[in-house]
Amino acid sequence: MRRVDTKLLLPERAQTGPESLAEYRARGGGEGLAKWRDGDPAALLGEIERAQLRGRGGASFPTARKWQLAAGAVADQKFVVANGGEHEPGSDKDRNLVATHPHAVLEGLLLAGRATGASKGYLYLIEDMHTQRAAAERALQELGDAGLLTMPIEIACGPTTYVAGEETAALNAIEGKPAKPRKKPPFPGEAGLFGKPTTVNNVETLAHVAWIARRGAAAFAAIGTAESKGTLLFTLPDTVQRPGVYELPFGATYRQLIDECGGGLRDGRTLRAILPAMSCGFLMAEHLDVPIAYETLRPLGTSPGCGGVRLVDETTDVVALTVEIAEFFMREQCGQCPPCRMQTNQFVHFLKAAQAGKGPGYAEKITKLADFSRKKGFCSLIEMAAAPVLGALSCFADDFARAAGPGAPPAPQEN
Ligand SMILES: Cc1cc2nc3c(=O)[nH]c(=O)nc-3n(C[C@H](O)[C@H](O)[C@H](O)COP(=O)(O)O)c2cc1C
Ligand code: SF4
Repeated sequence: MRRVDTKLLLPERAQTGPESLAEYRARGGGEGLAKWRDGDPAALLGEIERAQLRGRGGASFPTARKWQLAAGAVADQKFVVANGGEHEPGSDKDRNLVATHPHAVLEGLLLAGRATGASKGYLYLIEDMHTQRAAAERALQELGDAGLLTMPIEIACGPTTYVAGEETAALNAIEGKPAKPRKKPPFPGEAGLFGKPTTVNNVETLAHVAWIARRGAAAFAAIGTAESKGTLLFTLPDTVQRPGVYELPFGATYRQLIDECGGGLRDGRTLRAILPAMSCGFLMAEHLDVPIAYETLRPLGTSPGCGGVRLVDETTDVVALTVEIAEFFMREQCGQCPPCRMQTNQFVHFLKAAQAGKGPGYAEKITKLADFSRKKGFCSLIEMAAAPVLGALSCFADDFARAAGPGAPPAPQEN
């Protein structure tokens, strides 16, 4: 069985407070920036491309491909943004990373700035992240005092909403506008912050950039599977013995995550299914030993997402859980796109009808709605909201059928 003790971001000794610059340097931190601060930006970009790093914000977009867009743009000013606006229920990894290892994130941001030709960077947080803000402020002070701040970095905060973490909503928030997603194109790499080419990366992605800059693309690409390189941070819920944030290489399994890291389920419960993250499809317990990778989870209708894991055991009311998830997306959608408003509202309506025993018909209506709305929003919340609901309907068809009972189907509602 594959070893799961590869640690690139979270050192063996758990960090309680924020790591100081001296502590970060003692474990090799800063060496990447020292190597590349005067190096060829195109060569740095090539290193990230060879490492095959993909974004850890949930969409797994190839990082080098995103950087190329901004690097190739001609402009008097460019920006880079570290996205730490994490607000997905069950995911704590970005909060944890910024609070405990702010230097790794900031070093990655400085390197992203170097590779794309940016003149300023932003660390984007949300307004309730007081601990993270304090850690980042102290780290910035230390970097400045040590002469390592190769570009100015500002900390900006958005509102405590889910969509505020979407990259163009984050750009709007930094500009002082309502934190709602922008219509794309143009993409941020073409016209982002204040209309200038901007690269937005998740804070975990940037911490990986710092590691790759130090240790090289080959070392990073040697970890993981064919298409999924390096390690990934996961958040385990309090339904396991040892909840918290863990780092595992791609290729490890959910069984290893739950049993070896989390100590297994509490109270001797039996696992029925896993929700790898709230905006993904479910994975049944029979797939516990499938290696975690983009290419292995895709055929099973899911993905690792942002790693905020939820567990379904024999005591979980899966219909109630699906309603709860659908209500979250209905509440959090920002209201700009009619198909998104309609889909998220109607999902809740049909699911609640099924929950109340009002008969069959819900699954077809939900599937039709999801098909109609797909790709019709300014952002991907539409698809993110559909994934766990469609997944639940197919994985827990018997639970839904039992709840819905034999009654008449619910009448469709106009939004
Ligand atoms: C509704 C919504 C919420 C999002 N929230 C976050 C978030 O909290 N943090 C994050 O890094 N990315 C979030 N994303 C993804 C970002 O838009 C973007 O893809 C990501 O920051 C890019 O970084 P990466 O390429 O390094 O993953 C969200 C996307 C959507 C549609
Ligand atoms: S798809 Fe939904 S969340 Fe995204 S911009 Fe449109 S209304 Fe807002």
